[in-house]
Amino acid sequence: MKNKIDEILRQVDEFKTDSLEQVEELRIKYLSKKGIIPSLFSDFKDVAAEERKEIGMALNELKNKAQDRINLLKEELQSLSAGQDKKIPDLSMPADFTSLGSRHPLSIVRRQIIDIFARIGFTVSEGPEIENDWHNFSALNFPEEHPARDMQDTFFVDDSASGTEKIALRTHTSSVQVRVMENSKPPIRSVSPGRVFRNEAISARAHCIFHQVEGLYVDHNVSFADLKQTLYYFVQEFFGKDTKVRFRPSYFPFTEPSAEMDVTCMICGGAGCKICKNSGWVEILGCGMVDPQVLENCHIDSNEYTGFAFGMGIERITMLKFQIDDLRLFFENDMRFLKQFEAAH
Ligand code: DAH
Repeated sequence: MKNKIDEILRQVDEFKTDSLEQVEELRIKYLSKKGIIPSLFSDFKDVAAEERKEIGMALNELKNKAQDRINLLKEELQSLSAGQDKKIPDLSMPADFTSLGSRHPLSIVRRQIIDIFARIGFTVSEGPEIENDWHNFSALNFPEEHPARDMQDTFFVDDSASGTEKIALRTHTSSVQVRVMENSKPPIRSVSPGRVFRNEAISARAHCIFHQVEGLYVDHNVSFADLKQTLYYFVQEFFGKDTKVRFRPSYFPFTEPSAEMDVTCMICGGAGCKICKNSGWVEILGCGMVDPQVLENCHIDSNEYTGFAFGMGIERITMLKFQIDDLRLFFENDMRFLKQFEAAH
């Protein structure tokens, strides 16, 4: 019995393991109910009385030693694997993918417009979205009874606190040209991008909130030829060199003469399609020579200076450029739509 105990003690001292599974195997083999050490305890009853004390002590010592050794092996393996988790990461490994945001298509186009006009000396000016009647209508020659002033088109702000002056959400960015002319002296070259508001039903082609860019050039001897050439330059830069333009006579209270400008349909290349209603042309802006009365309204001498102005919808030219067929997509913030503009900038 004593020899057996010594032999097992030696085995316990030599326990070696690489994994927690192996530690568990040893525990089962030596310490579980039917394991080697408990079975020695069962043999204890056959030990002669005079040896009992010594063998009993040796057996207990063996059991404790085996238990300690197994616990130690287990702890060692556990702390080793915890240490592995804390290892310094491999800094040469490629970084995890993080998804980058993208600019909104309207912001992309607004920046492009500003950039194109900046190259020919235009600066950016902005005005308030809540505007008074003077800047949105009166200074721009809208007669009192003009339908654009009607409740149907304009969102009026409750003006009970502001006396007789009517306050509204601006219906166009032309209000900014009035502010620019009031506040600066010619030569003036300015583009004014911004949000505008109209009381319209929301559809694929219209929204009650949208964006415009207003352009204004006032100096000595500014002519309609300058207007045409400037807009032709813009269209070629924005839509591409093959794009052609045409001007049609039109009417705006604040320009004389007035025109609307069409470009060749970039969807069908002028051959005729649904977008251009088979005409091969699409309208993108209104423009004209600033009415002398508007110059006077803004304290600019109309005998000395002339000017041209234009205004275009940012949504409209963005839809044409990127072939987007529903204006509502700009306002829904659907990631599947916005993600498609990651490459544009
Ligand atoms: N303000 C006009 C609109 O919202 C657009 C416009 C037309 C602006 C002619 C101009 C212009 O500056 O000259 O429909």
